[in-house]
Amino acid sequence: MCGIVGYIGTEQAAPILLDGLEKLEYRGYDSAGIAVFDGENIQMKKSIGRLKVLSELTHDGATMPGIAGIGHTRWATHGAPSDVNAHPHFNGDASIAVVHNGIIENYGKLKKKLMSKGCEFRSETDTEVVAHLLDYYYKGDPLAAIAHVMHHVEGSYALGILFQDHPGEIYAVRKDSPLIVGKGKTGSLIASDVPAILKYTRTVYFIENEEIVRLTADSLNFYNIDEEEIEKEPTTIEWDISAAEKGGYEHFMLKEMYEQPKAVTDTLNPRIRGNQILIEELGMTDEEIRSVKKIFIVACGSAYHTGVTAKYVIEGLARIPVEVELASEFRYRNPILSEGTLVVIVSQSGETADSLAALREAKAAGVRTLGIVNVVGSSIAREADNVIYTWAGPEIAVATTKAYSTQLIAEYLLALKFARVRGQITEDELADYIRDLKRLPQQIELLLNNKTKIQRFANRYLAARDVFFIGRGVDYAISLEGSLKLKEISYIHSEAYAAGELKHGTISLIEEGTLVAAVLTQEELYKKTMSNMVEVKSRGAFLLAVTNTDNVEAEKIADYVIYIPKTNPYFTNSLAVIPLQLFAYYVSIGRGCDVDKPRNLAKSVTVE
Ligand code: AGP
Repeated sequence: MCGIVGYIGTEQAAPILLDGLEKLEYRGYDSAGIAVFDGENIQMKKSIGRLKVLSELTHDGATMPGIAGIGHTRWATHGAPSDVNAHPHFNGDASIAVVHNGIIENYGKLKKKLMSKGCEFRSETDTEVVAHLLDYYYKGDPLAAIAHVMHHVEGSYALGILFQDHPGEIYAVRKDSPLIVGKGKTGSLIASDVPAILKYTRTVYFIENEEIVRLTADSLNFYNIDEEEIEKEPTTIEWDISAAEKGGYEHFMLKEMYEQPKAVTDTLNPRIRGNQILIEELGMTDEEIRSVKKIFIVACGSAYHTGVTAKYVIEGLARIPVEVELASEFRYRNPILSEGTLVVIVSQSGETADSLAALREAKAAGVRTLGIVNVVGSSIAREADNVIYTWAGPEIAVATTKAYSTQLIAEYLLALKFARVRGQITEDELADYIRDLKRLPQQIELLLNNKTKIQRFANRYLAARDVFFIGRGVDYAISLEGSLKLKEISYIHSEAYAAGELKHGTISLIEEGTLVAAVLTQEELYKKTMSNMVEVKSRGAFLLAVTNTDNVEAEKIADYVIYIPKTNPYFTNSLAVIPLQLFAYYVSIGRGCDVDKPRNLAKSVTVE
């Protein structure tokens, strides 16, 4: 996730900005930059790579004198990582500088309009549009220009802004992306997160949506979008610096679980316009979509598990045959890739060696390739013919959660787009699906807030030796992910089984007290899975059921039931996975495991 900082006071700004950016490095980034008002002009330095590069470039800030400045660590969303795409961004005559965390969803339309007015763009970013738009509306009053921009921009933003002819001021504004403001002994500061300013003050103001802040060396003024001054209460930060780097969460994994509603929103919203699905980055005409005869989804680990769900969703909605393959198998089995095949490579990191090799195999066979990737500019993103980015932001914990959830969203959108273009679903049916998709973030939030019950249940299974997850259809895909989450962070052996398959051997392992988690979200399969639950129960299993709120029948068989809100059967993975993530997390910390960096694992498996 991008990080922004700003300082105005009596000390040199650049070293303070660099120090603040260093405290935000944990958010993940690919480039960084600072802009400082030197008394006459706004000087700017920015570069791809680690913050160290920028510090060397500026001699730790010494070559950028000035007492007011803004800084940024960039996590690329629009435009690959590069010097020119790094923030800050200028307007045409470099009299306004902007740093931004978030996604401007309508930047394309705004960019076209500004270019028609003669604006020349230097970068591919959505952020630069904001710099030019501020210029376009600026008539000498920064507050008015900012309010104007807020009325025309859609999406999420936390902005830090310098106006050359207002040297004694810095401005900041927020919508959806986090922004805090504080006043230290020597000046005022802005930041995306507490760690960046904790060294200077523990008294901070959390900026709410559509609030604007004017900062001077010794004052903070807050305004609403109507430019009316408002009062705000400060908050005193009790965290120590290390905890604050996780935004107050104990582990990155917990923080990232709680970022899932926003990650899902950020991945979904830019691709929905009314009741239409727009995936411009798909790069396929309707004709080409209609000519697809077969889809391969190729991935590893959790990304593979999303593919197992996507098979059911794409085949169910678009009626296109889908094969889901482990990348490490696909690359060596000389797959039959004939004309009309689309190979989709799903990867959070975009650097997984097996998935990258599978991509190259598909390209060598001459078939169309599509990436579903979280890291902008990564190898898979660059080498696939087209890429749909998941906008989960950087995922630090080894065990994926928010990236997994956004991969599902990208796959649902792909399925619906193909189904509509191929005439498999009507406009009205599409509208219903979109309605259900839009409800997911809030339903995920609801489940996350139900964590205490799951934490208590998890504490009863810290000593478990074997845990089984069973389900049918999409529920089997959910079981795969639930099982992997548990074993990879708690080191407890676990297996996922198609519920109907258990009786073909593995049921011999069920004994008194064995924990079996049954996932039942597919209404037409309830009865089938319930009979499998009876089979294991009669052999002594302790049964946990994860099911829809309307399936109270499950309580007749299961010892413990976790309910998920109703959604379309195709989308239940997005909800049922939440309690399973929380279960794995609490078992892991209960067993004293290193949740964020489990033994033997790497965040990105860049070797075979
Ligand atoms: C998931 O929790 C694991 N960390 C792992 O299975 C991961 O999903 C797999 O290595 C694929 O990684 P990728 O999405 O970066 O390609």
